[in-house]
Amino acid sequence: MIKTTGLTKCFQDVTAVDGLTLEIPPGEIFGFLGPNGAGKTTTVKLLTGLLRPTRGEAWVGGFHVQRQPREAKKSIGLVPDQPYVYPHLTGKEFLRFIGDLYEVDLPYQKKKIPELLEMFELSKWGDELVESYSHGMRQKLVLAAVLLHRPRVLILDEPMVGLDPKSARLVKDIFQNLSQKGVTIFMCTHVLEIAEKICRRIGIVQDGRLGLIGTAQELAALADSHGNLEDTFLQLTGGSEYREMLKYL
Ligand SMILES: Nc1ncnc2c1ncn2[C@@H]1O[C@H](COP(=O)(O)OP(=O)(O)OP(=O)(O)O)[C@@H](O)[C@H]1O
Ligand SMILES: [Mg+2]
Repeated sequence: MIKTTGLTKCFQDVTAVDGLTLEIPPGEIFGFLGPNGAGKTTTVKLLTGLLRPTRGEAWVGGFHVQRQPREAKKSIGLVPDQPYVYPHLTGKEFLRFIGDLYEVDLPYQKKKIPELLEMFELSKWGDELVESYSHGMRQKLVLAAVLLHRPRVLILDEPMVGLDPKSARLVKDIFQNLSQKGVTIFMCTHVLEIAEKICRRIGIVQDGRLGLIGTAQELAALADSHGNLEDTFLQLTGGSEYREMLKYL
């Protein structure tokens, strides 16, 4: 459902994504992990056609992102790192707008929009302008919008940021449910506990390169970290050098 070959993006002197070759089958929840600046968001932008690759290719939903952009984009539900929502629309209007954009038929929208608002506990905010929404509420509205058009592939950049524990649990359950129905999920996250719980495979990217890929257990075995993903991550990305510096605080 997602395939990349040698996907590369250079910005002037930075190679943000460096030769990414990856294949994710239908129904898999794939966790894309890596330190700040590793190239995760750039990868999301390449997969969704928001950036043009310097080299390499990407297919999503069976469509070439560059050569069949409309078809590829139609199969994708994107939750970007900044939940961009039009501030002068109400929550309901925003969902209607997204529904129309993705050509979701009207009777289905009319049935589904109140259900989605209810599910994300936004019912009483449905007629309020989005500018009055908190960060977490905007994030939930974007998630509701993505579910409205029933994409075959979900691409999410830090979807749990700003969600309260109940909403985060809801979103985890939604992802697992969708995965069982064959929806493919590509998720960038820093929340290792979520990656460990729901991702079938995890890829760890560093300096634009996909260093390791496998199940949480496989990665733990490689790092010899007794199954703890946090220790695995820190060992694999060399993230514990700061300890030396603590004494200078
Ligand atoms: N538009 C741009 N112009 C120049 N450099 C960029 C641009 N976008 C990203 N970069 C660089 O590419 C690298 C990867 O950035 P990216 O945003 O993909 O990282 P990330 O893994 O998403 O990080 P984070 O965990 O902080 O969200 C960084 O070095 C960043 O400075
Ligand atoms: Mg990012």
